[in-house]
Amino acid sequence: WPATSRRVEGELTVGGIGVGELARTHGTPLFVMDEEDFRARARDYSTAFAGSDVYYAGKALLTKAVARWVTEEGMKLDVCSGGELAVALAAEVPPERIGMHGNNKSVAELRRAVEAGVGRIILDSLDEIDRLESVAAEAGARPKVLIRVTTGVEAHTHEFVATAHDDQKFGFAMSTGAAAEAVRRTLAADHLDLVGLHSHIGSQIFDTSGFEVAARRVARFLTQIHEELDVTLAELDLGGGLGIAYTSADDPLDPKTIAAGLTTIVQRECEEAGLPVPRLAVEPGRAIAGPAGITVYEVGTVKDVEGIRTYVSVDGGMSDNIRTALYGSEYTGRLVSRVSEADPMLSRLVGKHCESGDIIVHDLYLPADLRPGDLVAVAATGAYCYSMASNYNHLPRPAMVAVRDGDSRVIVRRETEEDLLRLDVG
Ligand code: LLP
Repeated sequence: WPATSRRVEGELTVGGIGVGELARTHGTPLFVMDEEDFRARARDYSTAFAGSDVYYAGKALLTKAVARWVTEEGMKLDVCSGGELAVALAAEVPPERIGMHGNNKSVAELRRAVEAGVGRIILDSLDEIDRLESVAAEAGARPKVLIRVTTGVEAHTHEFVATAHDDQKFGFAMSTGAAAEAVRRTLAADHLDLVGLHSHIGSQIFDTSGFEVAARRVARFLTQIHEELDVTLAELDLGGGLGIAYTSADDPLDPKTIAAGLTTIVQRECEEAGLPVPRLAVEPGRAIAGPAGITVYEVGTVKDVEGIRTYVSVDGGMSDNIRTALYGSEYTGRLVSRVSEADPMLSRLVGKHCESGDIIVHDLYLPADLRPGDLVAVAATGAYCYSMASNYNHLPRPAMVAVRDGDSRVIVRRETEEDLLRLDVG
């Protein structure tokens, strides 16, 4: 639950405001972001990684307000599409503080990034090296680039979000020589300024060893290219991926521990090889945005399926949180609008979509006197919920409010049926 959340006579308050008031003012389902919590996490990362660059990964959650918080807290911003870049630029994030990712950036996206003057472009394929070289030549620019390499590390996480094993779409494998080839190709491109390497092993990871093995392998690869190609690369971006606690079963890593471990490894490897120690960068997304957000839903029906469990249907579902259906993710939630002394009942929190896989929380104990009109909140929905939201079944996407010091501010307004119909020009 967000850092500023409290229980006041059974009601949950966040940022000093009761969820009842938030629901009355802004409607439900509602994403509530604890701005102070978000900013505090941003500061924790910046402090832990002092001397390195900390890019907030916008794919976790990006709105103009979020982009401003990131910039104000001294973080840089990782974007992975033209759309995310547009939000960053609209929020006046200084372009040199932006890193641009993506395994299939279009010519238009590359052109926009080059013209805007983004600080780093992360190259992901040979096609892209050629494409960016011609875009940069045309613009008379020489963008700073990193090459994304894969380290062969099998991150212990869901297969859809593990990214450093060889059989997936991202990056260049170090083991096959593809990465060395990409380095050669980039060095030969007159309009690309190769400054470093990038590695991202996956997401929602709790085990330091994956990060450490990857860091060691990339540091060794720096040595290899120094020996083979006589180039010294000054930057090493180790990506994101730190896990957060969705339920009490998860035990998140401390950014300070990770920072100390990674810095020591890279330092040791480079010093042993007689190389200057590169500047490190990391790209946390979930760890900054996730715990700071909750989703508030209104209960619509409570249906007891005799002898099995109770289905509690709320007014959102897989369109505002696809993670349970997609990855089997676990969440926790609770009644947040009143006190209840009733016994706990085993419930399944489900949405209002037309499929039975529309589950938000598989197993959740909610009070047996739960009734329509009650508010239930789900914790740790700040990352990869709004950013992965859809309009399935033509549900308008929820609003998002930022709360802080007793004030609430809409940062993304609720979608309306008019918004949905506006796109339908048939
Ligand atoms: N950097 C790169 C290059 C990435 O691909 C990602 C995440 C991050 C940083 C941020 O990772 P984080 O710190 O947030 O774990 N939709 C999935 C997560 C996909 C992550 C994709 N890349 C989910 O909901 O779990």
